[in-house]
Amino acid sequence: MLPETFKHTIHGVHGENGDVWIRGLPDRLAGWEEKYGIKIGNFYPMTFHFVAEVTLYGGEEAVIKAGLPADKELINEKNALAVFGKGTGMIKLLEDHTDEGFLLLEKAVPGTILSDSMKDEKAVAAAAGVMEEIRADDWDSKHFPHLSDWFKGLERAEDIPERYIKKASVVVKELLSEMHHPTLLHGDLHQNNILSHHGVWKAIDPKGVIGEKEFETAVFCRNYLFDKHHPFAVLQNRLSLFEKAAGLNLDKMIRWGYCGAVLSACWCKEDHMPCADENLKLADLYEKLL
Ligand SMILES: Nc1ncnc2c1ncn2[C@@H]1O[C@H](COP(=O)(O)OP(=O)(O)O)[C@@H](O)[C@H]1O
Ligand SMILES: [Mg+2]
Repeated sequence: MLPETFKHTIHGVHGENGDVWIRGLPDRLAGWEEKYGIKIGNFYPMTFHFVAEVTLYGGEEAVIKAGLPADKELINEKNALAVFGKGTGMIKLLEDHTDEGFLLLEKAVPGTILSDSMKDEKAVAAAAGVMEEIRADDWDSKHFPHLSDWFKGLERAEDIPERYIKKASVVVKELLSEMHHPTLLHGDLHQNNILSHHGVWKAIDPKGVIGEKEFETAVFCRNYLFDKHHPFAVLQNRLSLFEKAAGLNLDKMIRWGYCGAVLSACWCKEDHMPCADENLKLADLYEKLL
């Protein structure tokens, strides 16, 4: 039985196509089990994709991740995994079946997520370490979107107060014109996308976007923030820790943080998810630092 929240999210993001995909999923999974001699096990907590434990034909434990056919996100993820797989900070891609809508991935064991179960300082240090390890030198720009593509989302904004869009558009233009050494970023490096694997932290779920490193911290800084007593102090502390641990430019992190929060608010509206207000609250915190 697929969780109701998952069905709801898939409907929000993909509409009718998502409903059709969900209805056909059990048969599709059974077909892959048969065709590839795999056995699908327990589900992981799911948001945008079907993710579960799987036993491969040789008995090896792995993870299956499935999305809608021709799902651009899954294809991007495959391309990003192929690049980052040359480093040591990312879970490996075992098999690419994106033509049929799924990937087989190395399984993180025990796979504990870098949530707020540990002190924030330690979590930031771990994330900074993963950022170092997934550094990519050799990538083909035609396979990946650029941050300038992502930020076109500001133009599609609906129901977001104009002042946020105006300010983010100005700041992002400046940031893009100052970006001289673009690199391939994970693009969604938050606490739930960093898992423990035999005592080492590894990233999963890369989006693969061309940009600069200071953008990468924005997603991490946003997560597990408003559950804290003093979100503003926690945000400032995280930024300062990233500055020290990863040698990042504080001013750029703040500016990307503001723009990233506004863009996320736009995406929340687009995907019919109830996270826009929180992202705008975050933009307000960043604005105090701009
Ligand atoms: N390779 C893996 N090893 C262990 N657990 C995984 C792995 N990939 C995903 N998971 C689990 O599944 C959850 C959802 O996977 P994720 O790839 O982040 O999906 P989504 O694209 O929906 O965010 C993760 O937070 C993690 O708990
Ligand atoms: Mg994820």
